[in-house]
Amino acid sequence: MDTVKVALVGFGTIGIGVAKILLGQQERIAGAVGRNVKLVRICDKDTQRDRGVKLPAEMLTDDLNVILNDSEIFTAIELVGGIEPARSIILSLLKSGKNVVTANKALLATHGGEIFDAARSYNRSISFEAAVGGGIPVVNAISTALQANALCQLQAIVNGTCNFILTQMEERGTDYATAVAEAQRLGYAEANPAMDVNGTDTVQKLAILAHLGFGAKPNWQDVPRTGIDTVEAIDIVYAKRLGYRIKLLAVAEATPDGVELYVSPTLVRIDTPVANVRDSFNIIRIVGDAVGDVLLQGRGAGELPTASAIVGDVIDTILGRAKITFDTLNLWKKERPATKIKNPAEICGKNYLRFLVEDRPGVLAEIAGILGRHKISIASVLQQQDNESNNSPAVLIIMTHVSREGDTLAAIDTIDSLVCVRGKTVRMRVE
Ligand SMILES: NC(=O)c1ccc[n+]([C@@H]2O[C@H](COP(=O)([O-])OP(=O)(O)OC[C@H]3O[C@@H](n4cnc5c(N)ncnc54)[C@H](OP(=O)(O)O)[C@@H]3O)[C@@H](O)[C@H]2O)c1
Repeated sequence: MDTVKVALVGFGTIGIGVAKILLGQQERIAGAVGRNVKLVRICDKDTQRDRGVKLPAEMLTDDLNVILNDSEIFTAIELVGGIEPARSIILSLLKSGKNVVTANKALLATHGGEIFDAARSYNRSISFEAAVGGGIPVVNAISTALQANALCQLQAIVNGTCNFILTQMEERGTDYATAVAEAQRLGYAEANPAMDVNGTDTVQKLAILAHLGFGAKPNWQDVPRTGIDTVEAIDIVYAKRLGYRIKLLAVAEATPDGVELYVSPTLVRIDTPVANVRDSFNIIRIVGDAVGDVLLQGRGAGELPTASAIVGDVIDTILGRAKITFDTLNLWKKERPATKIKNPAEICGKNYLRFLVEDRPGVLAEIAGILGRHKISIASVLQQQDNESNNSPAVLIIMTHVSREGDTLAAIDTIDSLVCVRGKTVRMRVE
């Protein structure tokens, strides 16, 4: 059996998982590929730190040129993360003739065009299964098995940290800050969890899925995004009372006016599969015009689940499957016209609105009047005093019927400027 050489750049959480699988499963992988797949080099800034993986002494290097100059290395895996130096590393790996496997959603969502153009100009491939949904094979499903379909809708929980925090808040009754601290203690959340909780990570994954599944080319910064940092324990309680669970959803939907895209904490009916995905698990619900509903569920992050997707990509690259998919998909190609994205102000949906208001006659009428003037009709109202003392504000929950996003935001703006309203209105979408 001949041998094909592979290299890894970035020996952190996921890099360690990839090394464990490539070094520990050599026989099984050789059986699947028909060639020995040999991890020959790992490049990381730090070559001294013990990572709990036994490596031959010459395997670790802090010099990327060792990989770039080895013309026998067929595939290189980028697991540095972030924009720079990951972007320059991938461009130089492609230039040196390597096919690239990456898990870097931030980079693809921001510089997909440049990276894919470079791969095409060097006649190489990029594979990125692990960039969305970790170990869940969603990229593969959309790009191969579901090709017969026009996608109608995609609804996804793709950030395990946020799902874990929301699950803790619901099941243990903890407040948001305590749930974030618990996520950090268990290693789900980074020391700075901002990119997870403010929805950035989810929207970057949505931008990739929107391009892959719907042909849209959104600038991820322009996609409407609300994170879970706006959710309070009281919202979880009220949502449950109304028959819903709150989930951070990424949504793409094909409409006659273009693809609707948004990320938002969303009230999902308790009896649906999406509502029942707990802890750090992810789910992606895809609706195709021929197949109907497809649900993909599993671990969206972590060392071995993510490494599973990466090693799958490495095998596909060596077998030549990755290049076929890469060449046929034409992703982020300049000449390929992009599907129109619907004006966010025109997106229609139901909403959950929570107001903190003065507890006096006329307040509800004032708010209802503003909603009415913005063509928003009320489906139900719940009211409760914030605490028992006199003059304490009241919590007002309004569930609306379907309204235009532009009207909803304008109404909230007006309501937030009322003297009787204390604090900013909390708004969540309702599925
Ligand atoms: N963690 C997950 O569960 C998960 C899931 C799906 C996708 N991903 C993606 O996988 C990628 C890697 O994530 P990770 O969690 O493994 O990150 P990580 O633990 O921070 O690992 C990155 C590694 O790259 C090293 N590095 C930084 N700059 C480098 C350079 N110029 N040359 C060589 N090595 C360099 C870092 O060293 P220092 O620590 O010294 O900076 C670190 O060891 C990211 O794109 C991430 O979005 C992660």
